[in-house]
Amino acid sequence: MKNIVILVSGGGSNMQAIVRASLHENWAQKLDARVCAVISNRADSAGLAWAREQGLATELVSHRDHATREAFDEQLALQIDAQTPSLVVLAGFMRILTPGFVARYAGRLVNIHPSLLPAFPGLDTHRRAIEAGCRFAGATVHQVTAELDHGEILGQAVVPVLAGDRPEQLAARVLSQEHRLYPRAIAALLPSL
Ligand code: GAR
Repeated sequence: MKNIVILVSGGGSNMQAIVRASLHENWAQKLDARVCAVISNRADSAGLAWAREQGLATELVSHRDHATREAFDEQLALQIDAQTPSLVVLAGFMRILTPGFVARYAGRLVNIHPSLLPAFPGLDTHRRAIEAGCRFAGATVHQVTAELDHGEILGQAVVPVLAGDRPEQLAARVLSQEHRLYPRAIAALLPSL
């Protein structure tokens, strides 16, 4: 059984979808891997609290306790490597990672981004998609490379942008599709790892 480590910063709903898929709670979202640890950079992450309640191994590596990005990433890598994962999954992990960290996990570090990349890398994707007049928006699972929100695209989900959509309405529509997309994209990647 392959091990997955998930990194979260916030609510962790994508992490929950991946954990549920790994527990085979829904046949359509079956993932033959084990989530061996959830790591967060924020003590107040609801995702971290949920993982702890589930009895999953959890770690807090606060970026505030580290003077540099390199020092933070080094500590993060120590915690990750202790789990010997096949795959490291960023699920709403809101820290920019150093090139050294990214290189260390090349090919086995994936992210989900709430836009149809290569459109709208970075933050505030839903407001930008609405303001640009997009008729469709969505989410992308991609390999993580040193360039932010680039890297090979592993899967995408598309949703319509509806007339009068506010960013938070579009975000909710996209997020519900992320929960289907991410476990599937991981399941497709796992055999090659
Ligand atoms: C998701 O929409 C994810 O795509 C986005 O943060 C949200 C996390 O939600 N990620 C990024 O913006 C990464 N730059 P979750 O914590 O409920 O999974």
